[in-house]
Amino acid sequence: MKVTVSLIKADIGGWVGHSTVHPKLIEFAQKKLQQAKETGLLIDYYVFNVGDDLQLLMTHTKGDNNPEIHKLAWDTFVEATEKVSKPLKLYGAGQDLLKDTFSGNVRGMGPQVAEMTFEERRSEPIIVFAADKTEPGAWNLPLYKMFADPFNTAGLVIDPSMHDGFTFEVYDVIEHKYVRLNAPEDLYDLLALIGTPGRYVVRRVFRKSDGEIAAVASVSRLSLIAGRYVGKDDPVLIVRTQHGFPAVGEILEAFAFPHLVAGWMRGSHHGPLMPVALKNAKCTRFDGPPRVVALGFQLHDGHLEGPNDLFDDPAFDYTRSMAQFIADYIRRHGPFMPHRLGPEEMEYTTLPAVLEKLRDKFKPGEE
Ligand code: F6R
Ligand code: MG
Ligand code: MG
Repeated sequence: MKVTVSLIKADIGGWVGHSTVHPKLIEFAQKKLQQAKETGLLIDYYVFNVGDDLQLLMTHTKGDNNPEIHKLAWDTFVEATEKVSKPLKLYGAGQDLLKDTFSGNVRGMGPQVAEMTFEERRSEPIIVFAADKTEPGAWNLPLYKMFADPFNTAGLVIDPSMHDGFTFEVYDVIEHKYVRLNAPEDLYDLLALIGTPGRYVVRRVFRKSDGEIAAVASVSRLSLIAGRYVGKDDPVLIVRTQHGFPAVGEILEAFAFPHLVAGWMRGSHHGPLMPVALKNAKCTRFDGPPRVVALGFQLHDGHLEGPNDLFDDPAFDYTRSMAQFIADYIRRHGPFMPHRLGPEEMEYTTLPAVLEKLRDKFKPGEE
């Protein structure tokens, strides 16, 4: 049976500020998706939050980019905004719903989407990742490690079913075009692109030997859609695991190093990506630091057996303390780069309005 896994998320109001999602929003979304399950549109669902983002994980047989599934997600966000966020005056009610009219697909309308369709294997473990206070390029480094770095993923060297490597589809979020590059042959070209995570974003990964989908990430940049600052994108990622794909432990290992990502306070600062349990998926210090959760599921005929909250483990305590050390170190730079993002990325924040006021105060002068 071909099953589609769709993860669609939006920030439709924070509780309190931009820190987390109100339980009533989760309840509302659960009811909507339960109704869709009862009518047969969905096989299964799981609603959760990471920071201020409401996450709708859904399984069905309708394929990628299906208008009914996308409408269900859009209507859930719109109705929850009207019936919960606005009456409770949650912070930034409806924040990510950038367009008024739904026209068949939520892509380009504000919500982040990751979807994949595949023939369910004899056993089909998947891991769903969701991050808050960062951008889609935040997945570039961990995806590289999982699918291209033999120092992370032992299977690339010793498992014949992975030894051929993987194909990376890299999307240019500025010029809206993509390129496919193979690992290990094109590694240096791949790194030349994805080392610029604000522009080149890994969108999909395929197993090279048979073209099977291995991973899919969301790639929407909200500020590029809206042309102004609207909070960070807060991306999602789905990865298939085991038996010809990296093992669960190889996938999680890619997050054992809390790498620096763009986002955090006012979407304007670099900070470490901290792996956390669901119960700690709440952004606090300086509206962060940026956080990621990993939820494991065993699929059975499209049913989501889970979640297994995979970062809820002392094995990641060391990563978390390193993340806190890095957070403290980089915070001491205050308003200085490289803590604050560079001018190119600050273009879509509130900084240009401040700089504009200074423009006329400059006088001509030589060095
Ligand atoms: C980052 C984010 C927050 C806000 C900050 C200021 O993505 O959402 O860090 O940018 O709390 O929010 P406003 O401008 O709404 O007061
Ligand atoms: Mg928010
Ligand atoms: Mg958010």
